[in-house]
Amino acid sequence: MKKIYLILILIAATMLQSSFANEPDSAWVFSYATTKNRGGNGLHYAWSVDRENWQGIGPEFRFLFSDFGTWGAQKRMLTPFLFQDQQGLWHAIWGLNEEVGQFAHAQTPDLYTWDSQDYPYVMDDGNVLLPEVSFQPETNSYKISWLSGDEQKIFKTTTTDFKSYTPTVEGTTKDRMDLREEVLIDGEKQLGIVSKVSWQLIDGLIKFYELSQYKEIQRSERLTDDSGRFADLAPLTAEITAIPENSKAISDMLIGIFFEDINYAADGGLYAELVQNRGFEYKLSDTKGRDESWDSKKAWNFTGEQENFTIDTVFPLHPNQKHFALLTISKVGEAAENEGFDGIPLKAGDHYNFSVFARGLDGARGKLLVRLVDASGKVYAEGSTRSVGADWKKLELTLSSKKTIDNAKLQVIPQFAGKVALDLVSLFPQKTFKGRGNGLRADLAETIAELHPRFVRFPGGCVAHGDGLHNIYRWKNTVGPLETRLPDRNIWNYHQSMGLGYFEYFQFCEDIGAEPLPVIAAGVPCQNSSCGGHGQQGGIPMCDMDAYVQDVLDLIEWANGDKNSEWGKVRAQAGHPEPFKLKYIGIGNEDLITDIFKERFEMIYRAVQEKHPEITVIGTVGPFSEGTDYRVGWDFATELNVPMVDEHYYQPPGWYLNNQDYYDRYDRSKSKVYLGEYATHIPGRKLNMETALCDALHLINVERNADVVSMTSYAPLLAKHGHTQWNPDLIYFNNTDVFPTTDYYVQVLFGQNAGDEYIASQISLSDGRKEVEKRVACSLVRDNKTGDYILKLTNLLPVAVDTKIKLADLPEAEGEAVLTVLQGEPMDEDVRPESRVITLGEPFVYKLPAYSLSVIRMKSRQ
Ligand code: AHR
Repeated sequence: MKKIYLILILIAATMLQSSFANEPDSAWVFSYATTKNRGGNGLHYAWSVDRENWQGIGPEFRFLFSDFGTWGAQKRMLTPFLFQDQQGLWHAIWGLNEEVGQFAHAQTPDLYTWDSQDYPYVMDDGNVLLPEVSFQPETNSYKISWLSGDEQKIFKTTTTDFKSYTPTVEGTTKDRMDLREEVLIDGEKQLGIVSKVSWQLIDGLIKFYELSQYKEIQRSERLTDDSGRFADLAPLTAEITAIPENSKAISDMLIGIFFEDINYAADGGLYAELVQNRGFEYKLSDTKGRDESWDSKKAWNFTGEQENFTIDTVFPLHPNQKHFALLTISKVGEAAENEGFDGIPLKAGDHYNFSVFARGLDGARGKLLVRLVDASGKVYAEGSTRSVGADWKKLELTLSSKKTIDNAKLQVIPQFAGKVALDLVSLFPQKTFKGRGNGLRADLAETIAELHPRFVRFPGGCVAHGDGLHNIYRWKNTVGPLETRLPDRNIWNYHQSMGLGYFEYFQFCEDIGAEPLPVIAAGVPCQNSSCGGHGQQGGIPMCDMDAYVQDVLDLIEWANGDKNSEWGKVRAQAGHPEPFKLKYIGIGNEDLITDIFKERFEMIYRAVQEKHPEITVIGTVGPFSEGTDYRVGWDFATELNVPMVDEHYYQPPGWYLNNQDYYDRYDRSKSKVYLGEYATHIPGRKLNMETALCDALHLINVERNADVVSMTSYAPLLAKHGHTQWNPDLIYFNNTDVFPTTDYYVQVLFGQNAGDEYIASQISLSDGRKEVEKRVACSLVRDNKTGDYILKLTNLLPVAVDTKIKLADLPEAEGEAVLTVLQGEPMDEDVRPESRVITLGEPFVYKLPAYSLSVIRMKSRQ
C-alpha cells in the first residue's frame, strides 16, 4: 500500500515540476491509432521537439475512443486524421470499418476534451477509407476527401461547420494531400498525422494522461487491502456532533428501484407466467442466431409424430400473435408438453389458473385434458376444458397440485383425433403478489417491496431504447388483452412476451406505494446497437417523429387521462378507471448526446412540457460519471432547463472512497439528479460486504446532497440463476427461491429509513489521516412524517470506532432507539442486518463495528 501512496506523491510531484521546466515554445504532436484490437484502441499521441525522436504519451492510452456501433465487432478508429480549423479548433475524422459509407467526426479545443462524435453518411454505395480534411480559402470551407472501394476511387464533399455536407462527388488525385506519415514510436512504426503545436498543448496532454493515471490508482483502492494498509492502526475514537440549526429539506424520493428485463427479470422471473414461449413467438433472431434451439417450438415437445406438430400463421389469434401451434392428433393421448422456464415449480395445495386459446380445424371438436406431470409422467394435477370450436376460443380451468415439485411439465392432451390449433397457453399461480390476475411472482415482488422503494423505473435500461430502431420499446404494444400485445426480441438476446407490460408495471407501483417512472427512448436506439447494420442507426426518421411524440403524449393520457378519453379508456378497460397519477417521465437512456439525439429529445421534451407542465421530465447524461456525454449532456440539459437528469455509473470501491464530494460540488441552480444506475463493481463482479459498504458510503454522501440528488436506483435489480447476462445484481433468484445480496440489505436500510430533512453533523476522528477519515461517515436525517431521527453510520475500517454521539440539541429524540447493523468481513457474501433496541444517553457512546453499516432510528416524543 505504501507503494501506491509513493506513486501518488511522485505523480503529483511530476505534475508540479513540469510547469517549471525549461520547455520549448512549440513542438510536434503525432496523432495516430494502432491496428491492434482491429483498430479498437482509439486515438493516441506522441510528441517530439525535433520531429525525429518521438515520445509516446502513455502506451496505448486513448485520448478519444470511437463510439460507432456495437461492442466487440465495431468501435473502431481507422486512420484518424487530425486537423486544426481557422478558428483554432481541432477536428479528428476517421474511417469506421471497411463497409459503411460514413466517416466519424469529433472536435476539441485542447486535443483531449472531445465533443460528441457524429457519423455523416457520404456514400450511398461504397466505403470510406483514409479520410482527410483541408481548408479551401477560396470558398472558406473545408474539403473532406477519401478513397472508396477496391479501386480506391477518390470522392469528396465540403462543409463549413462539420454538421452539414455538400453532396458527394468524385474527386481526382489533386484532391488528396496524402499527409499521413510513418514514425517510429516505442520501436513500432505507426501511420499518422504530424502537427506543429504549442508546447502548452503537449503539456496539457501529458498532464491529462498523468491525471488519468492518478485517477486509476485511486480507483484501484480496495477494502480487501485494508488489513495490511491499517495493520498498525491504534484503537480509534470518534465524536459526532449534530448541528440542528444547519438543516435543509431533502428529497423524500431518494431510494427507488431500477427494473429492467435483463437476466430473465420479466418472463421466467417477476412475471408469474409458468409456461415458456406460451405464444409460440420465439424466434432465432431473439438470440441473434446464437441458440439454434430458439424458435417457435422452444420449450415445447409433442409426444406424437413430430411432423404432426407444426407452427402455422394462417388465421392467427391476432395479427400481433402471428404464430400458433397446429397439432394433428392421430391417437388420443398425444400431448403438447411445455417445460416451463427450467421446469414448472408447483406447491402442494396451491391453485393454478390454466388458459389456452384453441380452435378445431376440419370439424375436429372435443375437450382438452390438461395435466401437470413430473419427468416420469406421474400426474400431480389434471382437469378438462370445455370443447374446442371452429373459431378461436379461450378455454380455462383451475388445477391444484397434489405435491410440491420444482420441475413439473404442463401437458395439453386433446381428447379427439384431428387438427387443433393452440395459442397463448398459460399457467399462472393464483397466489401472485396481491392476488393480481396476470400478476407477479409473490416472493420476488415481496422482496422488492421490502426495499420501500419510492419509485419504480421501467422498462430499462437498454431495453427502453432497444437494439436498433425496430427494437425501441413501444408502450402501446404492451397494454390491452394479452392476445393483442406484440412480443419482441429482448436486447439481452432473448424474448419479451410483453405479458408484463405497462399496465402491470403501473399496477405494481400502486401496489407497493411507489411512483411509476417510465423511461422512453429519446427517438434513438441504443448507441451500441448491433441490429439493422453496423449499429448507430441514427434516430427515428424525422418524418415519423410527430407520431412518436404523440405516442409519448398518449402515454400520459393513458396513465392520467379521464376514463372516457381515448387512451384513458384503454386503461379503464384493463380494470383501472382511476388515473395512475403519473408524475415523472424519463426521456432517453444513457444515449450519445449527438445532434441526432438532441433534435429528437428536444421535440419530445418541448411537447411534454407544453401539454403536461405537471410532468417532471428526466433527461439523460450518458453512461459515465465524466467524459463527453456526461459533459455535453449536462450542458444540453442546462440549456433546455430540463428539471432532472439521469446519471449512470458503475464504479470500483476506490472511486466511491475517493469521490465523496462528487455531489457537494454540484451547482444547485441546475437540473436535479436522478442517479438511475449505479453499483460497486469489483473484479469477478460479485457482491459482498466490500461492495455493500461502498454503496452505503456513497448513499451517505448522496443523502447529504439530497437537495440536488432527488432519486437513486441501484442497477440492475433482478437476475435469474443460469440466465444472467449481467453481474452483479441486487437480487438473485431461481424458480423457487430468492437470494437477496449484501447490497440489497443496504438498499433496504436506506429505503426503510429515508428522511425528508438533512441535519448537518460533524465527525472528528482520533486519527486524522485522510485514508482513515474517509472510511468513516455518517448522515443524520429526520423523517417529518413520523418525527423520527435517523442516524446512519458506516465504518469501512478493519477496527471498531468508539463513537461518542452528541445529539443534545435534538429535543425530540427519545431515550430508546432501534439499532440495525449490517456487518461482516469485506469478502463476506452471506450477511444480514440485525436489529435491537438500545437506550440513548447524552451523549451516548456507540462502538461502531469494523466493516459495518449501522442505522439508529430514534423515535420522536411527539
Ligand atoms: O443495468 C444494465 C445496463 O447498464 C442497462 O441496461 C444500461 O442502461 C446500462 O448500460
